[in-house]
Amino acid sequence: MMIRIPQVLSAEQVARCRAVMDQAGWIDGRATAGAQSAAVKNNLQLPDASPEARELGDMVRAALERSVLFMSAALPNHILPPMFNRYEAGMTFGSHVDNAIRTIRASGQRMRTDISTTLFLSDPSEYDGGELVVEDTYGAHKVKLPAGDAIVYPATSLHHVTPVTRGTRIASFFWTQSLVRDAGQRGLLFDMDMAIMRLNQDHPGHLSAVQLTGVYHNLLRQWAEI
Ligand code: NI
Repeated sequence: MMIRIPQVLSAEQVARCRAVMDQAGWIDGRATAGAQSAAVKNNLQLPDASPEARELGDMVRAALERSVLFMSAALPNHILPPMFNRYEAGMTFGSHVDNAIRTIRASGQRMRTDISTTLFLSDPSEYDGGELVVEDTYGAHKVKLPAGDAIVYPATSLHHVTPVTRGTRIASFFWTQSLVRDAGQRGLLFDMDMAIMRLNQDHPGHLSAVQLTGVYHNLLRQWAEI
């Protein structure tokens, strides 16, 4: 299941990201890639220990934690500090699956990557190409969102970024270990949570919402790993 999270960052926050990035030093994106990914990866990244990456990563993380939609879709247990990449004209990232295990540098803690997220920081009008293409059993899905919007998708998916042919594409990307490992179970909980929210809006105080909320939490209790 792919879920779009609109306006994770405000226009002011996107502008702050862009201003910090304009002053930052960028390195070859292969620094954080596994062997197969490195062979097809051609982009630039902010060094993940740099003060710029930390400031912006903290901003993104705080915004995610305020996002009801992200929290419901991802049910995060651990979030890898967000990273930042840049594709200039001619740059691309060929088809790959993200590494299953990542290490959180600050703590040395390892985490499983259940969910991949891309948060777009360039507006689609600023570049051509640069679509994120995610493949699942329903086919290939092209994603190119307004600056500040994010897409959440299962980290098990094959995906690639098509070559940028004009302008610059900047994004934040990171992984989440979910409380619920199985994408199918996570999808059911998300659908149920959305239905309960709608029920609460349309029929405030309805007893069914209380019962369904109970079922939601009892399913989460069965499926969550902490
Ligand atoms: Ni990837």
